[in-house]
Amino acid sequence: MKTSERIILALDVSNPSYAIEIVEKFSDKINIFKVGLELFTIAGPSIIDEIHKRKKKVFLDLKFHDIPNTVARAATAVTMLGVFMFNVHISGGFEMMKKCTETVVEICLKENLNRPKILGVTVLTSLTRESLRDELGVQYGLRTHVKHLSNLAMKAGLDGVVASAREAEIVRNHCGKDFIIVTPGIRPSWTPPDDQKRTMTPKEALKQGADYLVLGRSILKQPDPLKAIELISVEILSA
Ligand code: C5P
Repeated sequence: MKTSERIILALDVSNPSYAIEIVEKFSDKINIFKVGLELFTIAGPSIIDEIHKRKKKVFLDLKFHDIPNTVARAATAVTMLGVFMFNVHISGGFEMMKKCTETVVEICLKENLNRPKILGVTVLTSLTRESLRDELGVQYGLRTHVKHLSNLAMKAGLDGVVASAREAEIVRNHCGKDFIIVTPGIRPSWTPPDDQKRTMTPKEALKQGADYLVLGRSILKQPDPLKAIELISVEILSA
């Protein structure tokens, strides 16, 4: 896979025109752009069309978490937009994920659409072992819990997971080579962690088995973002 396919740039901005400016500016270096809650809430589906017009792929990161019927209907809407990837929270349960995948497969066959990759969010990279235990009442260790959630996602027919690179190895070993692992919380050694708690460098993440690296602030908040992408690409190639 080329480095332009490995990096997913998070368009965590509130201004749709600025988001498109970013897509155009990094068009040679990046092929997949992530649209998250903020940008999608402000811009709506037109932002997806604008990115597609520029021949780029979209990871729609809305992390659906609701009853099975509601998630399946939202997934149908997202599939009609033609996104490359979208995600649901695995903690929404097996039935929610299964109905979501089945509905997406059905609509793709019926409407002759490309099937988007459906990912399950394991444990947010901003959470720690302590917050999981003390706030959410999960008594297992992080690795055990992520392994359990990934297994459930795989059984429900999802294509892969979003997980911290720190848990990528256990997911890869358990779920096999074709299961997609997308890792946010990536921080090259020269950037601060911000609110992310379970970070890894791009090189380490790939070594642990990650397929795609989500990068936001460590590119866009740099004084020279193009230089930052170049440095990260060199690191990816060396892995
Ligand atoms: O700026 P930074 O590189 O931390 O951005 C990470 C992006 O990945 C954000 O858009 C965040 O919402 C997203 N994300 C995450 N952890 C997850 C899933 C998605 O940080 N588990």
